[in-house]
Amino acid sequence: MDYADPKKKNNFVGKILMAAILTALCILMLKQSPDFNPPTAFSRHEPGVTHVLVTGGAGYIGSHAALRLLKDSYRVTIVDNLSRGNLGAVRILQELFPEPGRFQFIYADLGDAKVVHKIFSQNAFDAVMHFAAVAYVGESTLDPLKYYHNITSNTLTVLEAMATRGVPTLIYSSTCATYGEPEKMPITEETPQQPINPYGKAKKMAEEIILDFHKNSNMSVMILRYFNVIGSDPNGRLGEAPRPELREHGRISGACFDAARGIIPGLKVRGIDYKTADGTCIRDYIDVTDLVDAHVKALEKARPGKVGIYNVGTGRGRSVKEFVEACKTATGVPIKVDFLPRRPGDYAEVYSDPTKIRNELNWTAKYTDLQESLQIAWRWQKSHLNGYGLSVAGGGGGGG
Ligand SMILES: NC(=O)c1ccc[n+]([C@@H]2O[C@H](COP(=O)([O-])OP(=O)(O)OC[C@H]3O[C@@H](n4cnc5c(N)ncnc54)[C@H](O)[C@@H]3O)[C@@H](O)[C@H]2O)c1
Ligand SMILES: *[C@@H]1O[C@H](CO)[C@@H](O)[C@H](O)[C@H]1NC(C)=O
Ligand SMILES: *[C@@H]1O[C@H](CO)[C@@H](O)[C@H](O)[C@H]1NC(C)=O
Ligand SMILES: *[C@@H]1O[C@H](CO)[C@@H](O)[C@H](O)[C@H]1NC(C)=O
Ligand SMILES: *[C@@H]1O[C@H](CO)[C@@H](O)[C@H](O)[C@H]1NC(C)=O
Repeated sequence: MDYADPKKKNNFVGKILMAAILTALCILMLKQSPDFNPPTAFSRHEPGVTHVLVTGGAGYIGSHAALRLLKDSYRVTIVDNLSRGNLGAVRILQELFPEPGRFQFIYADLGDAKVVHKIFSQNAFDAVMHFAAVAYVGESTLDPLKYYHNITSNTLTVLEAMATRGVPTLIYSSTCATYGEPEKMPITEETPQQPINPYGKAKKMAEEIILDFHKNSNMSVMILRYFNVIGSDPNGRLGEAPRPELREHGRISGACFDAARGIIPGLKVRGIDYKTADGTCIRDYIDVTDLVDAHVKALEKARPGKVGIYNVGTGRGRSVKEFVEACKTATGVPIKVDFLPRRPGDYAEVYSDPTKIRNELNWTAKYTDLQESLQIAWRWQKSHLNGYGLSVAGGGGGGG
């Protein structure tokens, strides 16, 4: 009869131990649970304050957009997983806008739907500017799935989170690459979209998802199709600093600066027998300062249930030869130029018709002097030889 007693005692001790462990676990979980974080300015809607989620805000265009929004008194949350962007850009924004409730950075991957939904449940966003993407045409032909995943699929995730939480406004980063190679120039918003590479296709699919969703919702949607983006903050606070390993896919402005710095031996102009005035390709270069201005105007003019699709370009085509000359003058370096045969997949001439955005958003490009845009960007490049990694001492912080 005494036989069972020790066992009962053991059971009792065991149960107490178990209860203690469970209590401790609960406390730990509660402590970690987001719901027990004290509410911050970011988690509450505030009358008169527009809280904008900037995805990809550590990147080139997103960081410039965040800076402009902050300057215009918006509340800004950046979500970026730094796969391509720079923490250095985020730090600069934090230093410029340290006041509580102005700016926060969340390190997260938009490919993780659970995390995205959590971010939307913890923050009271009034609008989303969705920049995050992978954005190199050449890379997209080598690794198409990466593009469909990080552009199309991630846009769907963001849209679902917006729908669940009732976030009313979306400004979407699209591209002239969705048009492919139309015969008729300039490109209007009515020009048929026939993209010829996975990058353009992934962006067009994302546009279609957004537009289909929009048909049965009250969301305000603005789709901006950018042409070739160049330049940087005229005050020298931010710049363009892509990962060195992306150089081979790089854009012409990056190549110009790399050549001027001697990182690459010179510029390779591919194709001088196009049917253009000087035989080289013609593109429409839009300064990033004008581009982010278009975003702010789009945000201001967004209306529930309405959708606006706009080209963002200068309306003026510039040849690669013109660009190279502007680059030489802007950098003051006599860059070596090699003329090579055409690269497959390049089209002769692309430029925008900016009439619609001028009429409807009262936006026009102001930084239309190629050389001036490149000069501004070059100043930042010269004083940030390691990108955001390390500034050059005595570089004057990029100058005014
Ligand atoms: N640069 C151009 O000439 C150009 C032209 C047309 C359209 N666009 C579009 O503008 C947008 C911004 O381009 P950019 O030139 O600033 O590129 P970028 O690479 O400098 O910036 C993109 C940012 O998105 C982030 N990102 C990517 N995948 C992510 C993910 N899964 N989760 C979280 N963050 C992620 C990257 O870390 C990076 O900071 C892109 O949507 C691009 O397609 C750019
Ligand atoms: C960024 O997100 C991708 C998925 O889209 C993930 O594979 C990658 O590891 C992330 N990078 C970082 C640095 O977190
Ligand atoms: C994009 O998606 C791929 C998976 O398809 C992932 O490996 C990668 O890290 C993602 N992000 C970037 C910036 O490439
Ligand atoms: C849009 O808003 C109006 C008025 O607020 C409402 O009557 C309508 O049901 C909404 N439509 C959708 C699809 O949510
Ligand atoms: C359009 O913008 C200009 C400044 O660029 C401003 O002076 C003008 O008042 C604006 N027009 C309208 C109708 O808002």
